[in-house]
Amino acid sequence: MLKPNKLAKNNFLSSLDLSPDEVLHILELASNFKNKKLNIDLNNKVLGLIFDKSSTRTRVSFQVAMSRLGGTTIDLNPTTSQIGRGEPIKDTARVLSRYCDVIAIRTFDHLDLEEYAKWSTKPVINALTDLEHPCQALADYLTIHEEFFDFKDVVLTFIGDGNNVAHSLILCGALLGIEVRIACPKGYEPNPFVIKKAREIYNNDNLLKISNDPYTAAKGSNVLYTDVWSSMGEENQKEKKDTDFNGFTINSDLVTNADKDAIILHCLPAYRNKEITDAVMESENSRIFQQAENRLHAQQGLLACLLS
Ligand code: CP
Repeated sequence: MLKPNKLAKNNFLSSLDLSPDEVLHILELASNFKNKKLNIDLNNKVLGLIFDKSSTRTRVSFQVAMSRLGGTTIDLNPTTSQIGRGEPIKDTARVLSRYCDVIAIRTFDHLDLEEYAKWSTKPVINALTDLEHPCQALADYLTIHEEFFDFKDVVLTFIGDGNNVAHSLILCGALLGIEVRIACPKGYEPNPFVIKKAREIYNNDNLLKISNDPYTAAKGSNVLYTDVWSSMGEENQKEKKDTDFNGFTINSDLVTNADKDAIILHCLPAYRNKEITDAVMESENSRIFQQAENRLHAQQGLLACLLS
């Protein structure tokens, strides 16, 4: 029977913390958990959840994942814990790692996540920062694998802001060797460090393409992916971003430009008829709710490895 392997790194702060084989291993575990071919008992291990921002999918999928693995979770709401009062991260991390076996953190500044990891003696998982959303990318590539059975020759086009979700898609896509195209308005390109890292992983293959033209980027793609234009914490930029992203909506016209069997992904929550039309979200090409379900299975795979 398939067994979870220990990961080389203790934390999962970035897609870069995994090797290509480790990504494939987690996806294989996830698929086995999903198909009820694998049952692992973590023997009451505890996952601490710290969410400085709202969450539906990430919070609930981690809770259900731990429950299915025979463990439990503690949801540390910053407003009812001393985190909201401003207790230093180095103190919180050292205390929590004496109670919990693993900690998942959603926060704004990626440096804060790294500070937790520095002081925690237990694994720390990135549940979304301004820089990355690596757990989302695991579920996304699980969904793509379920559709195409292989990553070879798959072209993924992300249309939207080149920020956290795009960054993890780029890095995990590079580990898997798939062509990733990013189409964003000028000024919203991915972080140059992420682009540089991805190109190093691809090693001479020109498989990462950044453009400002969604129609050219979508041409012949197997996967069209988008995310909200204004992330949590950017509410005051909404009006400007709605203007800047005009023309970057995934609509039926754009879908026609992709491969005829292209699937549509969105990490959710969506603003329907902004970054994606209602019709495309509900179309037969959409795998958006399968993708949301896969958060659970991918995180079961990840937790099984981190806690094995
Ligand atoms: N995709 C995602 O992270 O969803 P939540 O914000 O609901 O967790």
